[in-house]
Amino acid sequence: MSVSRELVLKELGIDPVWRLKQRPTAAGDEVGADRRSRILQMDWMQLKEAVANCTACDLHKTRTRGVIGVGDEKAEWLIIGEAPGADEDAKGEPFVGQAGKLLDAMLAAIGLKRGENVYIANVLKSRPPGNRNPMPEEVAACMPYLERQIQLIRPKIILALGRFAAQSLLNTEEAIGRLRGRVHQYQGIPLIVTYHPAYLLRNLPDKEKAWEDLCLARETMKKTG
Ligand code: URA
Repeated sequence: MSVSRELVLKELGIDPVWRLKQRPTAAGDEVGADRRSRILQMDWMQLKEAVANCTACDLHKTRTRGVIGVGDEKAEWLIIGEAPGADEDAKGEPFVGQAGKLLDAMLAAIGLKRGENVYIANVLKSRPPGNRNPMPEEVAACMPYLERQIQLIRPKIILALGRFAAQSLLNTEEAIGRLRGRVHQYQGIPLIVTYHPAYLLRNLPDKEKAWEDLCLARETMKKTG
């Protein structure tokens, strides 16, 4: 197991031996597992407030605001991206920049619309400076928020956009090219992996594969009834 993956698992409180040895996190005096179990009991209002005021990792020092998500809180479709970018950080809503426009078009292609039976969230709620990749400790600190969102929304299907969403949710380091094209499960919920819209903007030929993934998601949803 690589160091980064080990760190994520430990931060999530999965290794109790490590937890006992670990010093309290920057979030206060709570170790990761205690903080996680507190977040997993929150209602929507508490969760929104917690994300808005979160200081669990250093990203709070550079973000404008925490971006929890947008849409129907009882949606059947849950779309999960990576992290807010500059536009999202400014507006407080996920996927409002160029990648967001493509995401809206992808949703429209399968008859969906932002906000209507669709909820859009990110793995990270705070923008990494310069849009750099999320760090494992940032993902670990933010995952409990996403876990709680999934519990509260209880979607019928999850669409993971890009490798960070896919690998974080599926607890794997497998490449996105190997994860897409099949139906995974996240705690009993079907999960489909596809390319991140920002990647598709730079790699137009892969749009065809993304279309296949969207069709798989639509078919999977039909089967769930
Ligand atoms: N990319 C993401 O992953 N999420 C956003 O909200 C915007 C761009």
